[in-house]
Amino acid sequence: MTLKNIILSRKSVRHYNPNVIIARKEILDAIELASKSPNGNNIQSTRYLLIEDKALRTKVRAAANNQEQVETSSYLIFVLGDYRAFETANIRAIQDEAFEKGYFNQEIKSLLTDAAIVYYQGMSHQGYVKELVRDGSLAAMSLVLLLNEKGYQTITMSGYDKTALFEALDIPEHYEDIMLLSVGKGAEDGHATVRHPVEEITFVNAIE
Ligand SMILES: Cc1cc2nc3c(=O)[nH]c(=O)nc-3n(C[C@H](O)[C@H](O)[C@H](O)COP(=O)(O)O)c2cc1C
Repeated sequence: MTLKNIILSRKSVRHYNPNVIIARKEILDAIELASKSPNGNNIQSTRYLLIEDKALRTKVRAAANNQEQVETSSYLIFVLGDYRAFETANIRAIQDEAFEKGYFNQEIKSLLTDAAIVYYQGMSHQGYVKELVRDGSLAAMSLVLLLNEKGYQTITMSGYDKTALFEALDIPEHYEDIMLLSVGKGAEDGHATVRHPVEEITFVNAIE
């Protein structure tokens, strides 16, 4: 399938066949590829919590407006952003690794490291949230496309009570929620949805 066909055929699916089993390896392969998505300064803040345990799924469903797909899809992934990625030690470690692999010289390494450290210094909390959500959303989109390419259906979800969800999954405070992602084989097709005409959503040089 071409990328265009995947984009055109993908629909959010809310009813899944609960008997379909997806091997964890398949999900890990897709996550590995999704992690190649662009991310700010390559600090790699996005994390993926695979919720496999049935009892946990039931708890998550209760925290997610009782949405059926949370429990009946083959896989449930919680995409999170890790605030610790902004720490200088993480920034240095990533650029050191790339330098050691010979991807760039010492001068570029210092330039990239210093620029990233300065970029995050003194950033507001809202700024940090935006960074995590941008990076996590790009990765989640890649993951959605990859999983649809494999023949699965998906739905991204933000319809949950964050506090209840963090409590149910015992998630530490240094994580920000990005979205839940259900994956499986649809028992029913997702319904078709409309989009604004491109001329309505596109502006050239200035926007009102
Ligand atoms: C960030 C995000 C959160 C969403 N949260 C939910 C949700 O909690 N429950 C739900 O049924 N659909 C949810 N959706 C799915 C949207 O309703 C859906 O993408 C939109 O209606 C367009 O339909 P399509 O995905 O089939 O093209 C969410 C989508 C996004 C991108």
